[in-house]
Amino acid sequence: MNNNFKKIYENSIDEPENFWREVADDIFWFKKPNKILNKSKPPFYKWFEDGVTNTCYNALDIHIDQGRGDKICLIYDSPITGNKKQFTYKELRDKVSKFAGALINQGIKKGDRAIIYMPMIPEAVVAMLACGRIGAIHSVVFGGFASNELASRIDDSKAKILITASCGFEPGKTVEYKPLVDEALKLASHKIEKVILFQRSGHEVKLNAPKELSWDEVLSNAQNVDCVEMNSNEFAYILYTSGTTGIPKGIVRDIGGHIVALKWTMKNIYNIDTDDIWWSASDIGWIVGHSYIVYAPLFKGCTTILFEGKPVGTPDAGVFWKIISDYKVKSLFTAPTAFRAIKKEDPEGKFFSKYDLSSFKSLFLAGERADPDTIKWAEKLLKVPVIDHWWQTETSWAISSNCTGIEMMKTKYGSACKAVPGYDVKIIKPDQTLAKPNEMGDIVVKLPLPPGTFPTLWNADKRYEETYMSNYKGYYQTYDAGHIDEDGYISIMSRTDDIINVAGHRLSTGAIEEVLSEHQSVAECAVIGIADKLKGQLPIGLITLKAGVDKDNETIAKECVQMVRDKVGPVAAFKIAIVVKRLPKTRSGKILRGTVRKIADSEPYKMPATIDDPAILTEIKEDLIKNNILKD
Ligand code: COA
Ligand code: AMP
Repeated sequence: MNNNFKKIYENSIDEPENFWREVADDIFWFKKPNKILNKSKPPFYKWFEDGVTNTCYNALDIHIDQGRGDKICLIYDSPITGNKKQFTYKELRDKVSKFAGALINQGIKKGDRAIIYMPMIPEAVVAMLACGRIGAIHSVVFGGFASNELASRIDDSKAKILITASCGFEPGKTVEYKPLVDEALKLASHKIEKVILFQRSGHEVKLNAPKELSWDEVLSNAQNVDCVEMNSNEFAYILYTSGTTGIPKGIVRDIGGHIVALKWTMKNIYNIDTDDIWWSASDIGWIVGHSYIVYAPLFKGCTTILFEGKPVGTPDAGVFWKIISDYKVKSLFTAPTAFRAIKKEDPEGKFFSKYDLSSFKSLFLAGERADPDTIKWAEKLLKVPVIDHWWQTETSWAISSNCTGIEMMKTKYGSACKAVPGYDVKIIKPDQTLAKPNEMGDIVVKLPLPPGTFPTLWNADKRYEETYMSNYKGYYQTYDAGHIDEDGYISIMSRTDDIINVAGHRLSTGAIEEVLSEHQSVAECAVIGIADKLKGQLPIGLITLKAGVDKDNETIAKECVQMVRDKVGPVAAFKIAIVVKRLPKTRSGKILRGTVRKIADSEPYKMPATIDDPAILTEIKEDLIKNNILKD
C-alpha cells in the first residue's frame, strides 16, 4: 500500500471538513467560506455555504491577475473543417466578458437558464463561461440529440435563451442546427425568449429578428462586463442525463464546490501543472467535456484543447497522434471506444510511428468499461501508463482512479483503481449487508458526497432523494454494480438500471422504448443493449405488433428505427428493430429483458423460475439468429 496516497485518502474520509477547507484555499473567493459543510438536512448537504466566488473569475481572470494573461489557454483544432485557433487567457477573457455583456443586453440575469446547443467550436466555450460570468445557469445539450430531447430540456429548465450555431460537421455530413432548433421550439411548451445563433462561415442561415439574432449582431453593441459575486451554493449549470424514464434528469452543479474539487483533480488525479498541455477528446455536451475540456483545466490555469473531429476518418486513424505531437500534449483523456476505433483501423499502429510523442505521459480512459485488450494494446503502442477511471455525470469528477499526481499505483486490468480522496466507496449486497472483498454487489458512496458532485436535481429534490439516496440509507446509489478487492481496487461490471453505454454515451433503453411504443402498429416492445466490439454496447429493439396490422414487418422495423433517430437522435445508434411474435415475460407480466440480453450476447443464463412460457425464449433465439445478432 502506498503511504502517501493512503494518508491523503484517509484524511479526506476521516476529516472531510479539514481536508476540503485546505483544498478550498487554493481557489479565488470574493469571500472565503467559514462554514465548510452543512449537514443539517441529509441527504441535502451544502459545501462552503457562506463562500462567495465566481466560476468565470476562477477560469480566466485569476490567471490574468497572477501574470499569466498571455499564456495560451485554449487551442481549437478542427481537422473536420481545417480551422485552427489559439487564445490566451486575456483574449478569451475579453471575448467572454463581451459576450456576457451581450447576454445582459438580451435581458439575461443571474439565475436565468441558457440552453447551449452548439458544435465543438470556441464560441461554445465562450457561451458557457459568459453564463458563469453573469451568474446565468447554462444547460449544454449535445448536438447529436434530436429536437424532442432538446425540447424536453427547454421545458424542464424553462430557459430564457437558446444559444446555437448554424451547423455542426460530422464526417461526410453537415448537421443543420437551425431546423432542429425550430422544431424543438415548436415542440416545447415553454417559450424561449431569444435565440442567438453563431453563423459558421459558408453556412449562414436566415434568422427572424427580433427573436433570432446572430452572434455578431449581439456583440456589435455589447460592453465588456465583470464577474458577478455568486454564493457558493448557487448553480453553475444543469446537465441533463438519461434517467430510467424518458424524462431526463437535470444534474445541477453548485458553484463553489465545483471550482474547489475540479481544480484539485488536475494535479492530484491527472498530474497536470499550469505549464502543461491537456487534452480531453470528448464533447462539451457530455460531462467529460464540461469538466475536462472546459472547467478543470481552466481553473488550473493550464492549456486545454478543443478538438472538432473523430478518432478515425478526420482524416485518418493518426489524428490523435498528430494533435498530441503538434501541441506537445502531456495527457489525453478519452473514452475506450475511441481507442477501439483507432485499433480497428490501424491495429499495427502504422500511423503512430509517423509522430513524435515524446511529450506524452499518460492516457486516461473513462465513460464505459475499458476492456483489458484495448488497455494492453494502448500500453504497448504508447509506452505510457493507461489509466481506467470511473465516474458519472452525477459526480462530475472521478470516483475511482489512479491518482497519478499523488502516487502512481500499479494497474490491475479490469479495475478502475481505487476510490479517490473524498469518496468512501462500499459494495452492498442484495441482502443490504456490506460485501466482503471480491463479492459482487451495488456500488454505493457513503454520504456526504464530496464537493463538486450534485447537491440535488433541477427542481426535483424528491426525485433526487428517492432515486439516489433512499434504497441504501446514508449512501448514494451509483446504479453501477461491481466489486472491490482486498487492496481496494474497484471493478465496475454493469449498470443495475436500464442505462446502456453506447460509444461512451449514456442512453436509457426506457426512453427508446417510449418512442417505439408511439408507433401505431407496435403493441409492446423491449430495448436491450447488446455487446458491440466498437461501441461497447448497441441498442436493439424487439417489438410485437397489434392485432390486424397489415403492414409488412420490414417496413414497420424501418419506421421504428427512423422514429428513434428523429426523436432521440442519431447518437442513439439505434439501427435494429426486430418484429417478434411474443415477448418473454414473468407470470406477473414483467418483460425478461436481462435474459434476452444474455441470450443475444451468448452468455449463460438460468431459466427464470417465474417465466410464463419458456418456449418464447426459443422463438426469440431463432429471431436473433435470423437477424444475424446471434450465430446459429
Ligand atoms: N452532432 C450531430 N450528430 C452527431 C454528433 C454531434 N455532435 N455526434 C455524433 N453524431 C451522430 C453521428 O454522425 C452518427 O450518425 P449516423 O448514424 O448518421 O452515422 C451517430 O450520431 C452516432 O455517432 P457516434 O457515436 O460518434 O458513432 P460513429 O460511428 O460516427 O463513430 C466513434 C464511432 C467510436 C469514432 C465515436 O463514437 C467516438 O469518437 N467516440 C468517442 C466517445 C466520446 O467522446 N465519448 C464521450 C464520453 S468520454
Ligand atoms: P456518464 O454519466 O455518461 O458519464 O456515464 C456514467 C456511467 O458510465 C457510469 O455509471 C458507468 O456505468 C459507466 N462508466 C464510466 N466510467 C466507467 C469505467 N471506467 N468503467 C466502467 N464503467 C464506467
